Amino acid sequence: MTEVLMRLEGARKAFGGLVAVNDVSFDVRRGEIMGLIGPNGSGKTTTMNLISGAFGMDRGRIELDGETISGLPANRVARKGVARTFQLLRLIEDMTVTENVVVGMAFRPGQRWNEEMVARSRDYLEIVGLADKAGMEAAKLTYIDQKRLELARALAMEPKVLLLDEWLAGLNSTELLSGIEIIRAIRARGTTIIMVEHVMSAIHSLCDRCVVMNAGAKIAEGTPATVLTDPLVVEAYLGEPHHA
Ligand SMILES: Nc1ncnc2c1ncn2[C@@H]1O[C@H](COP(=O)(O)OP(=O)(O)OP(=O)(O)O)[C@@H](O)[C@H]1O
Ligand SMILES: [Mg+2]
Repeated sequence: MTEVLMRLEGARKAFGGLVAVNDVSFDVRRGEIMGLIGPNGSGKTTTMNLISGAFGMDRGRIELDGETISGLPANRVARKGVARTFQLLRLIEDMTVTENVVVGMAFRPGQRWNEEMVARSRDYLEIVGLADKAGMEAAKLTYIDQKRLELARALAMEPKVLLLDEWLAGLNSTELLSGIEIIRAIRARGTTIIMVEHVMSAIHSLCDRCVVMNAGAKIAEGTPATVLTDPLVVEAYLGEPHHA
């Protein structure tokens, strides 16, 4: 389980004078759940945006499965096997649950809408616990169900790497446990996951390793137990009150 699936090398992104991601490098191993953590504004979402190709990098390189993906537009990165959920949900509200999932599949090469895709969407809805609401309009879903749907849509791309940006934020304690089980089930299917998260219990129970960011830079890397007791991390992140 030590094979590197994704590698960031010296990734940098500035917005005007603000360096949001400052020379960040890390490896993601095939099959692992990697946590990307740190205080508000430390550059986590921007790092995810660099990986997904939403933003171009100023410097550095990102490699997926031996291929360079940095510099490609987001739709090409998606086709190479990177899928994401957004910190702010982005569903097509007047479409049904099933239709939203099928839209996710349309990113796969050479595919058109067909009955097989509708059938397959059901598998993804089952993984996220939404199969019983397949025909419902997305706008009518509760908040957690919208999050489930966004995840099903990302799974429909059969990604090599799934990027979750605070997917567990805003869930109550029961929903949180169910959310953790869903993420675990996705990894068990063989999907590698990078998750940005502030919920400590989820980081402890899910992540094999964490990268900790502060003010755009990587300040620590290791198992949750190691990094979360690192004095540098405690000072930069855990000592301060934070909010999702
Ligand atoms: N599109 C943008 N234009 C200008 N500045 C931006 C943009 N996106 C992010 N930033 C800035 O870059 C810095 C890092 O933001 P980012 O969203 O990556 O933080 P984050 O670690 O995800 O924080 P949070 O935990 O609050 O979600 C912040 O100072 C933010 O204001
Ligand atoms: Mg963020």
